[in-house]
Amino acid sequence: MNGKTIKPTRLLLVDDEEGIRKVLKITLESAGYEVLLAADGETGLDRFIRENPDIVITDIKMPGIDGIELLKRIKNLNPETEVIMITGHGDMDLAVKSLQHEAADFITKPIDSSDLESAVKKAEDRMAIGRNIKSYMDDLKILVEEKDKKLNESEKLITIGQTIAGMSHAIKNIAGGLKGSSFVLEQGIEHENRQYLKQGWEMMKGNIDKITKLSLDLLNYAKTTRLNFRMENPNTPAREIVQLMGHKAKEKRINFKFHPSFEKKLTLMDCDSIHNCLLNLITNAFDAFDELPDQDRQRQVTLSIATQEKEIVYRVKDNGSGMSEPVKTALFKEFITTKGMNGTGFGLMTTKKIIEEHHGKIDFNTETGRGSEFIIQLPLKTMDS
Ligand SMILES: Nc1ncnc2c1ncn2[C@@H]1O[C@H](COP(=O)(O)OP(=O)(O)OP(=O)(O)O)[C@@H](O)[C@H]1O
Ligand SMILES: [Mg+2]
Repeated sequence: MNGKTIKPTRLLLVDDEEGIRKVLKITLESAGYEVLLAADGETGLDRFIRENPDIVITDIKMPGIDGIELLKRIKNLNPETEVIMITGHGDMDLAVKSLQHEAADFITKPIDSSDLESAVKKAEDRMAIGRNIKSYMDDLKILVEEKDKKLNESEKLITIGQTIAGMSHAIKNIAGGLKGSSFVLEQGIEHENRQYLKQGWEMMKGNIDKITKLSLDLLNYAKTTRLNFRMENPNTPAREIVQLMGHKAKEKRINFKFHPSFEKKLTLMDCDSIHNCLLNLITNAFDAFDELPDQDRQRQVTLSIATQEKEIVYRVKDNGSGMSEPVKTALFKEFITTKGMNGTGFGLMTTKKIIEEHHGKIDFNTETGRGSEFIIQLPLKTMDS
């Protein structure tokens, strides 16, 4: 039963079979949940956007927007949403695919009501953990802010707290991924199916890579970076990236343009760190086309550099997917990623840290469906300044 909270958990159930919708609604309502219904993926997405349910349960196979597509779009709109997939008996491949896109769980037809309730319960528990961390973080932040706003140490505490919250999110995702891959491997062993073994192994390797990257990112993030400041041409950290990413741009059919600064002034900076910041912004800009249909638009990414009187301004602009409201709000505050297995959400947090260590600023504009622009401003520190 769902007796802990005053407001019942809201579930959105998306299934094209009326019979299933009716039976599951009765089962879930009698277990204490509030149930919203949708008969297809389009309506499901629409209800998700309008009514913001806590958990989504969706059939995998549906005409129009199918379950996997719905899962991807929901995760893009709000990565924190728990999505449970309903699969048919022979839909193992689709179930595997849904786990790769971070479905919370899946249940197999014919649906057993205790399996369904236990999947929803597990999803609720995960949400509660997330909420507890957040409320703990909010309390900690308020406490620390109240104690002494100006004390450097307190600020460090907030950062540490945010790091822990962000990490627990990333680790939760990796743990889910490892659970999914071991399930697929088990299926492979049980059915002596080479394809599942291969898929399970690939998923497992992906998760191992991810946890390796996460620990490296964390080390980089946590260490008090010793920046190696030198007088540099502001174009230098960008030039290498233009060469490095040229090939990728071709592969992704992106028109990648570079407008260097024409001023000859040198400025004090750590070239390698600024290189990493720009590389992350450009990788993100390239990734912004991944979920868009192939022929959707002429894909543009521009990196431009301008030397002004008192500052250097780097701009990375793309006409890709833009960001949804929850991603936009979380950016630079939490370790958020919409890239499933392919991202950790450390990129922008580390970028911000480096820019602030240069006494600079980073900001962004974004419009859903139209693109984004990230702007880095670094103080111009010439020999005479
Ligand atoms: N140019 C962009 N267009 C659309 N979304 C973006 C863009 N830049 C960042 N984002 C969103 O912000 C999220 C966080 O970006 P960030 O670089 O911190 O992490 P990541 O790219 O997901 O993973 P990684 O740690 O490997 O960089 C991304 O997952 C993406 O959803
Ligand atoms: Mg990134």
